[in-house]
Amino acid sequence: MSERDKSAPPVRIAMLGAGTVGSSVAKLLARHQHDLAHRVGAGFELVAVGVKDINKPRVGIAQSLLTQDLESVALSGADILIEVMGGIEPARSLILSAMEAGASVVTANKALMAEDGAALYAAAERFDVDLYFEAAVAGAIPLIRPLRESLAGDRVTKVMGIVNGTTNFMLTKMDEEGANYAEVFDQANALGYLESDPSLDVDGIDAAAKAAILAELAFHTRVTLADVYCEGIGNVTKADIAAARDMGFVIKLLAIAELVGTQEKEDGIVVRVHPAMIPLHHPLANVRGSFNAVFVQAEAAGEMMFYGRGAGGDPTASAVLGDVVAAARHRVLGGRGPGESTYLGLEVLDIGRAHTRYYVNLDVQDRPGVLAQIAHAFASHGVSIQVVRQEGQGSEAGLIVRTHSGSEAALKATVDQLESMDEVRKVVGVMRVEGED
Ligand code: NAP
Ligand code: HSE
Repeated sequence: MSERDKSAPPVRIAMLGAGTVGSSVAKLLARHQHDLAHRVGAGFELVAVGVKDINKPRVGIAQSLLTQDLESVALSGADILIEVMGGIEPARSLILSAMEAGASVVTANKALMAEDGAALYAAAERFDVDLYFEAAVAGAIPLIRPLRESLAGDRVTKVMGIVNGTTNFMLTKMDEEGANYAEVFDQANALGYLESDPSLDVDGIDAAAKAAILAELAFHTRVTLADVYCEGIGNVTKADIAAARDMGFVIKLLAIAELVGTQEKEDGIVVRVHPAMIPLHHPLANVRGSFNAVFVQAEAAGEMMFYGRGAGGDPTASAVLGDVVAAARHRVLGGRGPGESTYLGLEVLDIGRAHTRYYVNLDVQDRPGVLAQIAHAFASHGVSIQVVRQEGQGSEAGLIVRTHSGSEAALKATVDQLESMDEVRKVVGVMRVEGED
């Protein structure tokens, strides 16, 4: 450190939460204090840690720092408040109080950022403090900073990724071991992967919150959780997984945010989370287990993929500490990180405006003319068929149809018509197909 840095007062850190992420943050802050001081130009001092239960054993955090009085943590006079407690309230009010008291905020809270990021950005602006949230999406993977800063000179056209490690773990197990949904749910539970409310993972809500955050940054448009179309993995069967494998595909829960319209003028964006088939050669197909990866397309940069650990104490703490260093540098050297950028204000369009391909599995009557009737149903909605495969005969007769890209509205109307046709005994399965463009 230079002579000037040695005399710089320490950056005071307060933390709300000391669970999986918070305990790793405290551990890494202590372990790397010397290096961090050099990188920032001032040392760090942990001044208060807010928890629910002060009697729980916590390695590496002095008992004297622990308190249940969360307001006192927010108003401790810290330079930086790290919020790793989760949930909407009291996290939101405490963050707003800390900002008003002059603290910059680093949070891992995707639920809060997706529900009310606008209020936090506005407070950061008003009180001239930083708001960083790299850990809120895809854990350790640097993704928020690339979208917010590195790609600020480009035009992002699409973001597509696997942003929930738990469901990726479950789908990978179903694919590789032929396990069924109930079995992999139990395995994820036994490994402690599931959120305390499992529906956040399996119903796609966690991924949808992350999709909203990514979409807002990528398209400079305010997007909240309520804007995201969301389907979970609860209806994905062993048979769907096997059919996908047979055709050279794998099923992943994808978060997709994309521009819709023409090259010259976008009509808006669509943000969606749902299971989809992707070809085995697509880079996202090889993202296995609890890993995350996000594929970004930008006009000048082309295609990029960000890959790594999307959860876990240490990986998430790495992202938190990267943000802490950024905010601390501003305390020492002056300046502020980027604020909210929603100047484009694009319309967030209904899922019907998305363009995708479909896989449709039909149980059909086995008699002359059926194929023609079915092809007619697709054609009448302007949906072009890419591949048809017949399986079985008589009462076992089935057809698998894969379409070319069409609007989601046209594809849905086609499936609705198929469901009403005499020739179709049952629409056995429908799934979107992505990554073939
Ligand atoms: P966690 O293990 O459940 O820890 C939560 C911590 O906050 C605990 O220390 C708990 O206190 C404290 N806390 C919660 N509610 C409180 C309340 N009402 N009053 C006082 N203290 C309270 O959670 P986590 O996994 O570390 O996650 C923290 C945040 O990081 C969440 O926003 C989560 O979405 C995000 N995140 C987590 C991961 C991950 O892999 N875990 C990855 C990315 C982002 P006690 O210890 O006394 O119970
Ligand atoms: N439940 C989340 C996941 C935790 O499985 O990815 C990390 O945000």
